[in-house]
Amino acid sequence: MIKLIWKKDNKWKKLLPIFVKHPDLVYLDNAASTQKPKTVIDWVSDFLKNDYANIHRWLYSLSEKSEELYYESKCALAKLINCKPSEIIYSYNSTYCINLLAQALVNTWKLWKWDKVLLWNREHHSNILPWQTLSKTFWFKIDFIKEDKNYNIDRKDFDKKFDKKVKVVSLSHVSNVTWQIMEVEKVREKIWENVFFMVDWSQSVPHFPVDIEQIQCDALVMTWHKMMAQTWLGMLYLKRGWIKELNPLILWWWTVKDVSVDDFLLQNNADKWEAWTPNIVWAVSLLKALEFIEQLWWIGKVWEHEKNLIKIMCKWFEKREDKVRLIWNYESNNRIWTFSFIINNENNFNKIWEIFSKKNICIRTWWHCAYPLHKSLDIWWSARVSTYLYNTKEDIEKFFEILDEIIS
Ligand SMILES: Cc1ncc(COP(=O)(O)O)c(C=O)c1O
Repeated sequence: MIKLIWKKDNKWKKLLPIFVKHPDLVYLDNAASTQKPKTVIDWVSDFLKNDYANIHRWLYSLSEKSEELYYESKCALAKLINCKPSEIIYSYNSTYCINLLAQALVNTWKLWKWDKVLLWNREHHSNILPWQTLSKTFWFKIDFIKEDKNYNIDRKDFDKKFDKKVKVVSLSHVSNVTWQIMEVEKVREKIWENVFFMVDWSQSVPHFPVDIEQIQCDALVMTWHKMMAQTWLGMLYLKRGWIKELNPLILWWWTVKDVSVDDFLLQNNADKWEAWTPNIVWAVSLLKALEFIEQLWWIGKVWEHEKNLIKIMCKWFEKREDKVRLIWNYESNNRIWTFSFIINNENNFNKIWEIFSKKNICIRTWWHCAYPLHKSLDIWWSARVSTYLYNTKEDIEKFFEILDEIIS
């Protein structure tokens, strides 16, 4: 096991080729996607060179090996989030998983005319558009819960909108703009048993330990490029009963047990949902990414490290309170280490990222796929700085150096 202590000497970056090639790079756009460790890249490359074959119904050892690794990655994931490997469905990303789920709900008559889906204003478009587009054809309604002045769920608004027509509640665990950790367990307590509860984990799993048993939701989605694996691997977790009960709209030869000219018979397990040649290579990359994190630190320790840096960030932002406004507050509790902000009297967001970019600092500006939230706050854009476990205090210092130049 490799032992690294960040405070003394951060060697993380040496384990990621991009930082070796560009030692001055300050990468602060991790909420969009994370960089990949050498072990992940090498392993994917070795796998493709030596062991790759298509999976399912294997009749030769190469295929058997690939199948084993595919399953192993589901086992590693199940251990991380506390569920059974058989409850994990791999797909392309969070967006695709939400679309898959929403389509299955209408396809199985769980969501229909006059029903209601309850979302929150601050949701990423990925958790808005799949519902909106289906609602046009299937005539169900969508209501958005407002936030209160502290950016929490407005409880009165929730109570008003949560009525008997609500069949689905779908929320993100951590907002990709305010970065608050939402107490999804409390929402579960408030909603009735027969309401389908979906949680978008895209911004929470990479940062702190999560436990499906605690959340008690029916479905969860996650996209693994935000946790050092490759792009194009998403996860849809479905509670066991739902895997059987819901019927996906997209089918393929492995999703069925039998086909005749008259009809078809669907599988009863997660295979029913994976209607494509599986993302075997990317599943292998996830297996390695999880191993990498586990070997170095374990996700609980990542969270400890992150919490320390959140405190520093909050204080530094607070010092500039008169010039820079954080979206959400300066408290270090209940948030992850990512910050969205606006600069007073500055409306040219292109200028902002260009200045950072010239100094080799990658940040993001604009609406972060959350138009409704920005509109409700009456702002046109925000800048976002997001870190991951390989970022150092020096990275943050460089960022604030440039920010200070801009605001002065
Ligand atoms: C909260 C949230 N949900 C969903 C997504 C969509 O992820 P993907 O583009 O990988 O599907 C993102 C991506 O930024 C996100 O932050």
